[in-house]
Amino acid sequence: MEHHRCFSALILTLMSCVHYSLSMERNKDIPTEKLLVLAVATQETDGFHRFMQSANYFKFNVKVLGMGEEWKGGDVGRSIGGGQKVRLLKEAMESLADQEDLVVLFVDSYDLIFAGGPEEIFRKFQQTNHKLVFAAEGIIWPDSRLAEKYPSVRNGKRFLNSGGFIGYARYIQKIVKQWDLHDNDDDQLFYTKVYVDPLQREKLNMTLDHKCEIFQNLNGAVDEVILKFGTERVRVRNTVYNSLPSIIHGNVNTKIYFNYLANYIPNVWNYEQGCTICDQDMVDLCENIKFPQVTVGIYIEQPTPFLPEFLERFLSLDYPNDKLNVFVHNSEVYHEKHIQKFWEENKDVFRSFKAVGPEENLTQGEARNMGMDLCRKDLSCDYYFSIDADVMLTNRQTIKLLIEQNRKIIGPLVTRHGKLWSNFWGALSLDGYYARSEDYIDIVQGKRVGVWNIPFMAHIYLIKGQTLRNELKNRNVFVLERLDPDMTVQRERESPSPESFQMLRPPQGVFMYVTNRHEFGRLISTANYNTSHYNNDLWQIFENPLDWREKYIHPNYTRIFTDNVLEQPCPDVFWFPVLSEKACDELVEELENYGSWSGGRHEDKRINGGYETVPTDDIHMKQIDFDKEWLHFIREIISPVTLKVFSGYYTKGYAIMNFVVKYTPNRQAYLRPHHDSSTFTINIALNNKGLDFQGGGCRFHRYNCSIESPRKGWSFMHPGRLTHLHEGLPTTNGTRYIAVSFIDP
Ligand SMILES: *[C@@H]1O[C@H](CO)[C@@H](O)[C@H](O)[C@H]1NC(C)=O
Ligand SMILES: *[C@@H]1O[C@H](CO)[C@@H](O)[C@H](O)[C@H]1NC(C)=O
Ligand SMILES: *[C@@H]1O[C@H](CO)[C@@H](O)[C@H](O)[C@H]1NC(C)=O
Ligand SMILES: *[C@@H]1O[C@H](CO)[C@@H](O)[C@H](O)[C@H]1NC(C)=O
Ligand SMILES: *[C@@H]1O[C@H](CO)[C@@H](O)[C@H](O)[C@H]1NC(C)=O
Ligand SMILES: *[C@@H]1O[C@H](CO)[C@@H](O)[C@H](O)[C@H]1NC(C)=O
Repeated sequence: MEHHRCFSALILTLMSCVHYSLSMERNKDIPTEKLLVLAVATQETDGFHRFMQSANYFKFNVKVLGMGEEWKGGDVGRSIGGGQKVRLLKEAMESLADQEDLVVLFVDSYDLIFAGGPEEIFRKFQQTNHKLVFAAEGIIWPDSRLAEKYPSVRNGKRFLNSGGFIGYARYIQKIVKQWDLHDNDDDQLFYTKVYVDPLQREKLNMTLDHKCEIFQNLNGAVDEVILKFGTERVRVRNTVYNSLPSIIHGNVNTKIYFNYLANYIPNVWNYEQGCTICDQDMVDLCENIKFPQVTVGIYIEQPTPFLPEFLERFLSLDYPNDKLNVFVHNSEVYHEKHIQKFWEENKDVFRSFKAVGPEENLTQGEARNMGMDLCRKDLSCDYYFSIDADVMLTNRQTIKLLIEQNRKIIGPLVTRHGKLWSNFWGALSLDGYYARSEDYIDIVQGKRVGVWNIPFMAHIYLIKGQTLRNELKNRNVFVLERLDPDMTVQRERESPSPESFQMLRPPQGVFMYVTNRHEFGRLISTANYNTSHYNNDLWQIFENPLDWREKYIHPNYTRIFTDNVLEQPCPDVFWFPVLSEKACDELVEELENYGSWSGGRHEDKRINGGYETVPTDDIHMKQIDFDKEWLHFIREIISPVTLKVFSGYYTKGYAIMNFVVKYTPNRQAYLRPHHDSSTFTINIALNNKGLDFQGGGCRFHRYNCSIESPRKGWSFMHPGRLTHLHEGLPTTNGTRYIAVSFIDP
């Protein structure tokens, strides 16, 4: 199976390479078709590749202008500029203008995709009955004083946008040959001045695409468009003009929304086929390959439950350890013991290991940059893998799967169990706060599966070393989570606590993806983690029930119900696995750490009446503040067993007496025959006969039946107050512990 998967990934990689180079080849030719696309791009950014992907899908004939040139056109979008584009077009038109029939479509490339093909655009262009058609938008830029010179428009967008225009080659040449300005002068202003001049407008037979038939600029129009899913293709509908624009342009500050649309358009994802581009450009990590070197940053930025389990899961990831450089930042004194142990056991396992503790007083940002820098400054570092301690990875292939997907920045989707809270944001409100994208829930719930371009991510991600050294060489790539007061309610429903964590926000032009193509793991909750006990994870039954179960419930517990793993050593005494080794050990440690054993006296202030007829040397769960958690355990874990063995009896799962008994020869070694004040009793062995103690066991008098070899983690369940008179047999050496509850007293 593994073989097969690698093989097909390889083929797909080859296929997409061939496809790509073919289309590049064709673009070099002098155009023979009627519609030629000219696009400016000085670098092969992620946006450029996306543009080309959409162009290739429709088999556009594209010629790229300016590739490899230095960009001198200024920072378009924030200020004026873009003159370089006009200069490049002017140069290109010199050899094209004499082609009588040729129609040229000139477009930006980094923030633009096609939603319709050449025939459609050609037809729409002809329907305008003009020689030159520019994109339109509702916002005037850069010179608002020109507004009154614009012809008025009854219905439609009034102002010119130069991010896209189409026209006969001769006419385009006529307009661009007028250009004699500098590369950093403004292209849109230049075209605008031509357009608002009535003589020029007529001479050039020039108009604007007022109703977004061809060009959809998103600036100021985000509310006008919606995705329209077809059987194979996805496009947008402009709901104001009821048009289906062929070209989508994410201009000015609409990049996040544009990236969302481009996760679907033109055929990236649809309901019939799902993700159509996910297998393209994969990296092949099959056998015989030299695995890339990965620097791992592990961040413990707040007290975090189940940290030892997190570290175990990390160690079990399927990746060669000699290819891993590990960096740990721990900001919590509480976790020093866990990290110390991890360090001692694994310091020689990895290629390198560095740990920074709370004594360094690093802020979260400093720590994260320190880890990133380790990869950034090490030319042999191929990938940087950042993971926070609240991510429980259940997929051992995670690192490999992310590398194979071959993106500059990619994270696996992880969500809080049963919640909508995840490690990414799909959208941002206009003022920069959390907002939910239309597809957020479908992605989180796995109803839409793919690799998604998203604006913010936290907790876990993989970044290419090269990307860190180039596009991300400036270090400030983190933002603190901000909560809009009005959004708090919604966010809280998705998460019980707005913890502080830092989100990754890449610089403009670098795409960041989250993949939900596989199950990777989950986020645990670090809220309400009280570290004042000895083994604090025992208290996590409410906050992180799934992790609690995995850690503390016996691995064969579920087999009680599936395989009947349940014994009846004496009449109506049922015996079954319930607590894990860790649960038993941690409970005993907790109680020994508490230390106030009762001494087995008859006088007992802890109970009603203050007198115990059959006293044991014990500690009540209530004394360590564990009674709520223990009762929840009884209801969740014990009740189903009760229903199975005493069918028709529905326990209330209520108990007042919940305690751990300690038997040891020099204090209390046995318990004389008695009935329990319960409907039924559970009695769980917390340690091992032979290993931890000698003797012990339980004898039921009515049946002359003894169980002399209790098993650690297994519980007895027997009726309490009538038939099952019993005694605790003497412990002859060592110490024996049992956890007992009198249920439904
Ligand atoms: C533009 O050219 C077409 C013919 O191609 C003509 O019918 C139309 O009147 C012209 N429009 C203007 C405004 O000159
Ligand atoms: C960290 O902070 C503590 C308490 O504020 C201080 O005593 C200690 O010297 C600081 N350590 C460093 C390395 O700055
Ligand atoms: C943590 O647990 C201790 C002991 O049970 C309790 O006294 C304390 O109030 C708890 N702290 C919080 C913040 O819940
Ligand atoms: C669970 O049951 C299987 C089969 O009976 C046994 O081999 C295994 O040791 C059990 N696991 C534990 C933790 O006791
Ligand atoms: C109880 O069982 C033991 C053996 O298991 C037997 O020796 C003894 O006689 C029995 N006692 C009674 C009262 O049946
Ligand atoms: C009791 O246990 C201790 C330690 O486990 C051992 O050294 C000793 O021999 C045991 N005594 C008996 C009588 O089994």
